Amino acid sequence: MHYTDQQIAELVREDSVHKSVYTDPEIFKLEMDRIYGRAWIYAGHESQVPNVGDYHTTRIGDQDVIMVRAMDNQVYVLYNRCPHKGAKVVAEGDGNVGKFFRCPYHAWTFKLDGTHLAAPMRRGFENTRFDPKSPEFSMHQVARVQSYRGFVFANQSPEGIGLEDFLGGVRSSIDNLCDRSPIGEVEVAGGVFKVLQPSNWKVFYENLHDTMHAPVTHESSYSSARAQAEELGHMPLELHIMDGNGEPYEFWEKLNLLAFDHGHGYMEGIFNPGAIETDPITRAHFESLEAAYGRDRALQILGENRHNTIIYGSGSPHTVFQQFRVIRPLSVDQTLVEIQTFRLKGAPDEVFKRGLMYANLINSPSSNVMPDDIEVYGRCQEGNKTRGGDWVSQHRYAGTDVEIPGGMKAINGTSELPMRNQFRAWKQYMIGDSATV
Ligand code: FES
Ligand SMILES: [Fe+2]
Repeated sequence: MHYTDQQIAELVREDSVHKSVYTDPEIFKLEMDRIYGRAWIYAGHESQVPNVGDYHTTRIGDQDVIMVRAMDNQVYVLYNRCPHKGAKVVAEGDGNVGKFFRCPYHAWTFKLDGTHLAAPMRRGFENTRFDPKSPEFSMHQVARVQSYRGFVFANQSPEGIGLEDFLGGVRSSIDNLCDRSPIGEVEVAGGVFKVLQPSNWKVFYENLHDTMHAPVTHESSYSSARAQAEELGHMPLELHIMDGNGEPYEFWEKLNLLAFDHGHGYMEGIFNPGAIETDPITRAHFESLEAAYGRDRALQILGENRHNTIIYGSGSPHTVFQQFRVIRPLSVDQTLVEIQTFRLKGAPDEVFKRGLMYANLINSPSSNVMPDDIEVYGRCQEGNKTRGGDWVSQHRYAGTDVEIPGGMKAINGTSELPMRNQFRAWKQYMIGDSATV
């Protein structure tokens, strides 16, 4: 069907959404234009392209793009399309193209910023409208690219707010992730996991702050962790992390949930990765920060204990365990998640190893925990295709959200504020003009 703005607006109520937002391919297409065509979307981290000619392919919504470091040492984001016949210039993945791109089809070449360099047998173009200086014959750059502390975001719209305003209340999560390094810098390290989810991209964003699911969906993984800890006679951090999901409702109710403009938000940490006094890794980390920033600032940095942060449209950084789950919608019912782990430059190596442990335990394809979630995401997708009802509930604590600068705060950690906030932004993108988003 063809949707009018009015019809789109009616899909989102104060406390529920129409299931077609998850199942209708037409809505998905509109989202690619109106959300992914307007928002700042994470393309990758500068450390993925450290040298001139390095590239990393990724997607901004339904667009294949290349993040590349050019001769001027700047990072560019280009559409992965040759202006001759339209071939993708580089294959998916990471690599180095040298000093220029060369299309594998007829060897047209382009500077690393996409500008046309040469086409073989130039004399064949004489007396035609072929003009190497016209942008038509260059690889196109995505309209705006901006980096925040090494995190590169691209925006397909030439107009709209800047990156820092867009990030708003969750900019502090990127800051905290970087500040955890004694030199204030992080780098992607240890490879990237990829997980395909058989569900709409929004289902995953909603789950990231869905505290009510943890003791239910993860019963099998936290019960196994508890059984194993009993056998061992103690609970190492690996099991402690899995055990966390089994906390009773009263625990989740007390967690702080913050929601910000543009669909972003973060939730307070579930577990303390180790007290400075008792955990040797945290102690060593603290000492490296204390030497760099002084005691008070070091305490403040490590005291910022956040669980999942949501950067709506891009994915979910986890500051304490140095992850970024990059969420890429592939189709209305398929979502690709790329899991990046960061090394905190200058911090003890054990801190990075702990991050890798978390990636393996929670985010990798072989995780014991994530399959619990993927199963229920798939069930939401399937169930919503049936004729058994039209609306998806977000009623929990609706109408009680408290306004804070740039967003809202939940009065209870089990509130469905994060979902309502995401759909408030969704509606703005889908029917608003780009100036408001
Ligand atoms: S398609 Fe790229 S050179 Fe022909
Ligand atoms: Fe979960």
